[in-house]
Amino acid sequence: MEVVILGQGYVGLSLAVSAAQAGHHVIGFDTNSDLVNQLNSGVSHIEGISNQKLDEIISNHTYQVSADAVSLSSAEVIVIAVPTPLTAERNPDLSFIQAAVELIIKYVKNPALVINESTSYPGTLRNEIAARITEVEHHYVSSPERIDPGNIKWNARNTPRLIGALSPEGALIARDFYSSFCEEIIEVSSPEVAEAAKIFENTFRQVNIALVNEFVQIADALGISGREVLEAASTKPYGFMPFHPGPGVGGHCIPVDPTYLAHVANEVGVPATFIKRANEVNLAMPSYVVKRVISGAGGFIKGKSVVVVGVSYKANVVDTRETPAASIIDLLREAGASVSWHDPLVGSWRGESSVELGACDVAVVVTKHDVVSIAGIKKSFYVFDCTGSIPGADGI
Ligand SMILES: NC(=O)c1ccc[n+]([C@@H]2O[C@H](COP(=O)([O-])OP(=O)(O)OC[C@H]3O[C@@H](n4cnc5c(N)ncnc54)[C@H](O)[C@@H]3O)[C@@H](O)[C@H]2O)c1
Repeated sequence: MEVVILGQGYVGLSLAVSAAQAGHHVIGFDTNSDLVNQLNSGVSHIEGISNQKLDEIISNHTYQVSADAVSLSSAEVIVIAVPTPLTAERNPDLSFIQAAVELIIKYVKNPALVINESTSYPGTLRNEIAARITEVEHHYVSSPERIDPGNIKWNARNTPRLIGALSPEGALIARDFYSSFCEEIIEVSSPEVAEAAKIFENTFRQVNIALVNEFVQIADALGISGREVLEAASTKPYGFMPFHPGPGVGGHCIPVDPTYLAHVANEVGVPATFIKRANEVNLAMPSYVVKRVISGAGGFIKGKSVVVVGVSYKANVVDTRETPAASIIDLLREAGASVSWHDPLVGSWRGESSVELGACDVAVVVTKHDVVSIAGIKKSFYVFDCTGSIPGADGI
């Protein structure tokens, strides 16, 4: 199939590689011309997609990257994989989806299958995409991406793919397309079910992470180890699923997607109270961490040298979006600490560069990448660990 993917970020590039390897002719379109140039020169910006893999599909002409919207015109399948962030007021920001729709209206003149993989609230495909494209009769499918960057076990091939179509023909073409690189396709009765399933999956994680984050604070106040309690509870073979505490939540999904659900819930008069509370708990974790760090480091932090280890939002990825490391660093600086950070994967961030690990008063481990040495972290006088991976360290 002739496939055009709008957006070559985490989701769009991963899909492009899967589809190109399956033999489709894929054009990755992105409005960021620097990224297009980088990808065209065979340099991947995503962990898990090597330059070699990129080079292979560029050389065998199954993949091209373009910032020229004319490239949309030959598409049989168009996939929208653009950002769906929150506005400054923490409301859904569909401006990127709207911009993608404008491009489809302007450049796609033959009937095609339009798939939305961007995460959004139920009703997006029907009301914000299909209803706006009146000139050509396309088919429409919602197929929310469930990719977990850095996950070695679950990938595009073995993670079941949901599809919810506005027409039976659309469902057939989508099944044909996705089954060329995915083992299991699950068709649901409407795009709204697919859209809601995706945000409910992430809401389930957000709420359970908040629950465990609150629980470890209770456990600490009771003088018991929250992590040991979780390990003990996990021995129950049914009815319990472990979630891990941490310094907050980051990335494009967990801090953002539940708010899309809360938005539509509010509109239909059923306030999403769990989401609101979970947001509060998770967003308050950086201040809880800093409070514990100050108390563990002897009651004051002013003038002390602190290294924050791992600034991406999770281990072994370079993504710093919504990372709790940002608030932790800011709060430590507000308290008068001299703060640097170490993250060899991220390298540079917020106008600062990663430092080498050395002797410091305090190390705060926010994310533990495999390449970061525990011995290096332990050069600091006091170590506070948010990851549960530094033996003998204080932490959550
Ligand atoms: N990152 C993840 O792990 C993940 C997982 C599942 C779902 N999602 C969802 O997938 C969507 C995309 O996320 P992402 O992480 O790939 O975002 P990203 O920011 O990594 O990439 C999005 C890309 O879209 C480009 N873009 C913006 N407007 C465009 C337009 N009009 N036309 C073409 N390109 C445009 C940007 O330049 C950027 O390169 C979001 O809705 C997100 O919630 C993300």
